[in-house]
Amino acid sequence: MAKWSWGVFSKLLQLHNLVRLSIGLSTLAFFLNFGSFNYDHIPLDEIDANLYKHVNPNLKLDPNKPACDYGFIHEPDGPMLEIPTSYDEFLPTGIANGSFLPSHCNPQLSVALLVTYRKRQKQLDIFLPYIHNYLRKQNIHYKIFLIEQQDDAPWNKGALYNIGARLAMDERFPCLILHDVDLLPRDPRNLYACLQQPRHLSASVDRLRHVLPYWYLLGGAAAVRADQYKLVNGFSNLFTGWGGEDDNFSFRLLDNNLQILRFPERVSRYAMLPHVKQAAVNPRRAALLRQTIPDQRHDGLNSVKYIAMEVKKYRLYTLIGVRL
Ligand code: BGC
Ligand code: MN
Repeated sequence: MAKWSWGVFSKLLQLHNLVRLSIGLSTLAFFLNFGSFNYDHIPLDEIDANLYKHVNPNLKLDPNKPACDYGFIHEPDGPMLEIPTSYDEFLPTGIANGSFLPSHCNPQLSVALLVTYRKRQKQLDIFLPYIHNYLRKQNIHYKIFLIEQQDDAPWNKGALYNIGARLAMDERFPCLILHDVDLLPRDPRNLYACLQQPRHLSASVDRLRHVLPYWYLLGGAAAVRADQYKLVNGFSNLFTGWGGEDDNFSFRLLDNNLQILRFPERVSRYAMLPHVKQAAVNPRRAALLRQTIPDQRHDGLNSVKYIAMEVKKYRLYTLIGVRL
């Protein structure tokens, strides 16, 4: 048996410190890796075959123009776009009612951008010019709908999306992009289009350390075919306050055997505009998530209610103002 001596004691002490150090390091590594940088994504060479190439049937296209090209999605990594802090000069060329149609070619893709909103004027002032500049370069036909909750009732993002989706579908948009007002895409190759299966666009957000926190996350920005949105009966209208409605929507898609696709991490980068969280976190969101899944058939797109609605056409967006 080893004699108890200073030598043994100091060795034990070193061992003890080593154990502490390694526990500390692995904890740190765990937190730094919380979520995934290397999530599964659709192979780049399969994107074209997966594009949901549909234009709004209401569009009148000129048969003499060539079909628009989307080859830019395959370009090598380039610089990320800078996010301006204000806009002094923004030219709304080609935009009316929040909608834009490329002039030199016939788009193969039409998308309705649904942006839910309440009291975020500063963010909106950056978001609108930024996203128009971004989308005008993509050769797509798009229209921005701003769905504003114009009351002081608890925030209901799911209901706002359902209301926006209804109008966009009435206008025959084949693809819906659900988009937070505080998120700005930074890589020009992030094509705003639907794939055959739903797609989560904002997989790599700077404020989330460019990490995807969990595989079924669909919050932020997501592209869903209008027919699939309808198939799953849209969002639940029962989530109020912050959180959960997007997870519920994601489960609805998965329950209907739809997949969630993503583009590679570099292409999926977003900047999040600074803000203080306004809607109170919904403490019941986890319980609701379990409870509302069986209610999919009668809670959603087909049951959304509002007290009043106004639709106004502004240059940079079509406003759908609602009181819930
Ligand atoms: C919430 C989601 C949110 C996500 C990422 C989850 O806990 O339920 O609504 O999108 O966190 O912030
Ligand atoms: Mn936000």
